[in-house]
Amino acid sequence: QAQDVAAGEKVFAQCRACHQVGPTARNTVGPVLSGLFGRKAGTVEGYNYSPANKNSGLTWDEATFSEYIKDPKAKVPGTKMVYAGLKDEQRIRDLIAYLKQFDAS
Ligand code: HEM
Repeated sequence: QAQDVAAGEKVFAQCRACHQVGPTARNTVGPVLSGLFGRKAGTVEGYNYSPANKNSGLTWDEATFSEYIKDPKAKVPGTKMVYAGLKDEQRIRDLIAYLKQFDAS
């Protein structure tokens, strides 16, 4: 099925406790997720990452992000992100479509 930005926004409700996006986004519990796709992991300025995230060697693209969000601790062993994982492929696609709106801010 096609990507659904509005559905992705609802999925992002699970992330909002710890992450912000958009032009006024700030680092909080987790780093800002604006401009995520194409960025090297662990590089948001001013955010205090775990060594595991900082040194993961990942670049966030659709494939690495999809694997990560299914099981963060499997993809980045030692990450301090506490999130059980989002398994549903359609919801992941929707979430990506939502996040991509903020690639430039
Ligand atoms: C890191 C996405 C939910 C806390 C990250 C990173 C991504 C991400 C892509 C790596 C960022 C980077 O390398 O710059 C998401 C998404 C979520 C979600 C899409 C919802 C589906 C949460 C929740 C929490 C959280 C609920 C808090 C309970 C963190 C923390 C980090 C992080 C603390 C830094 C990890 C570290 O330095 O080891 N998140 N996250 N995230 N997230 Fe999340």
